[in-house]
Amino acid sequence: MRNKLNIGLFGFGCVGNGLFDVLNKSNLLDATISKIVVKSPNKTRSIGSEHFSFDKNEILHNEEINVVVELIDDAKAAFEIVSEALSRKKHVVTANKKMLAENLDTLLALAKENKVSLLYEASVGGSIPIIRNLEEYYNNDSLSGVLGIVNGTTNYILTQTNYGKDYETALAEATALGFAESDPTLDVDAYDSKYKLLILIKHAFGVTLSPEQIFNYGIRNIKPQDVRYASEKGYRLKLFSRGEKVENKLVGFVAPHFITEDNVAYNVNNEFNSVTVEAMFSDKQLFQGKGAGAYPTASAVLSDVSALQFDYSYEYKKSNNTENINFTNDINLKIYAGASNLAALDIFQWIEKEEIFQGKDYAYVTGIVNLKNISGVDFNKEHDLFFAVLPE
Ligand SMILES: NC(=O)c1ccc[n+]([C@@H]2O[C@H](COP(=O)([O-])OP(=O)(O)OC[C@H]3O[C@@H](n4cnc5c(N)ncnc54)[C@H](OP(=O)(O)O)[C@@H]3O)[C@@H](O)[C@H]2O)c1
Repeated sequence: MRNKLNIGLFGFGCVGNGLFDVLNKSNLLDATISKIVVKSPNKTRSIGSEHFSFDKNEILHNEEINVVVELIDDAKAAFEIVSEALSRKKHVVTANKKMLAENLDTLLALAKENKVSLLYEASVGGSIPIIRNLEEYYNNDSLSGVLGIVNGTTNYILTQTNYGKDYETALAEATALGFAESDPTLDVDAYDSKYKLLILIKHAFGVTLSPEQIFNYGIRNIKPQDVRYASEKGYRLKLFSRGEKVENKLVGFVAPHFITEDNVAYNVNNEFNSVTVEAMFSDKQLFQGKGAGAYPTASAVLSDVSALQFDYSYEYKKSNNTENINFTNDINLKIYAGASNLAALDIFQWIEKEEIFQGKDYAYVTGIVNLKNISGVDFNKEHDLFFAVLPE
């Protein structure tokens, strides 16, 4: 039997607005948004003021509201709202990857204790239905890897640099097009991609990592010489959120990767996102779609709301079987690293060097490094150099 859903919505920005529209347009759900709580009293809104409140308790203390949809841009406030909603036995749908990544186990325990659902399909890959697929379709033993392009801003910038634009111009365009966060550090230094990887790993392999365990290196230091190197070799650059399980060893990190034409993600360009799922028998499968924007993201939120009509919740079955899985950064990677001079590249503790080039004001080395030996360095702050993982 379908449950009647009475929704309290937090946030009426890009995604909140989108949800209001798609819910009213779709007519498919027996669901009503009965109150919307926002922050600023002085903003002009696209719908009447009777819909809004600035007091979170108008939703949280309302016994009639059985679903809270949290779509605000403040992870700390979101955590308070979501925790209280779960404690008050309301189901929660959220798109807030930072809040989830920082508090996943606490929130799951609260949901379990109060016998309510916490769903968050929109938090990774926007419109791509990846979390429920990882959760329901792939079992733990056969799944060996998830490889995500899960940040539209960086994928847009990398695509445009490939067409000859410099980094600053491409970032300004991504901001103007509404893809970039107001503080683009989260995008370009790969924090956003790391939060999403943490969520992917939870549903792929059952393990909860902390954000601090996952190495994240973004794209802010890319130079035209690095782009030229890639195009001479026929590579494209992608920022990959990479989770891999080999027997009992689990590896997870975010870094730029050069990929060749035969990679299934080669043509995932601009603001599009993808997740490649690798499993023992099905080989590689590519999920691709719009990773951001009002309607694509709202469509994933809507799908979660719809699932609540049938009492759906994630079961986290894989989490019951993780005691022998060891997270490690002990993995050898073949990388390219470019800088203004060769000495700057000694930071990498090379296990083996394959190619060494020294020009007038640009040098590069390719070779093997171990992630464990470099993961203590914040390479986002090493502005003179750029590195990317090479195809195996
Ligand atoms: N935009 C996307 O494409 C996208 C994609 C995937 C996931 N997400 C996630 O979805 C969430 C919402 O993103 P967005 O792009 O829609 O954000 P946004 O456009 O910046 O809107 C944020 C909304 O949150 C409200 N807000 C902020 N703090 C609040 C508080 N303490 N209490 C109540 N309301 C508060 C703001 O109120 P005012 O209107 O009064 O300022 C605003 O309506 C974020 O977690 C984001 O990471 C977004």
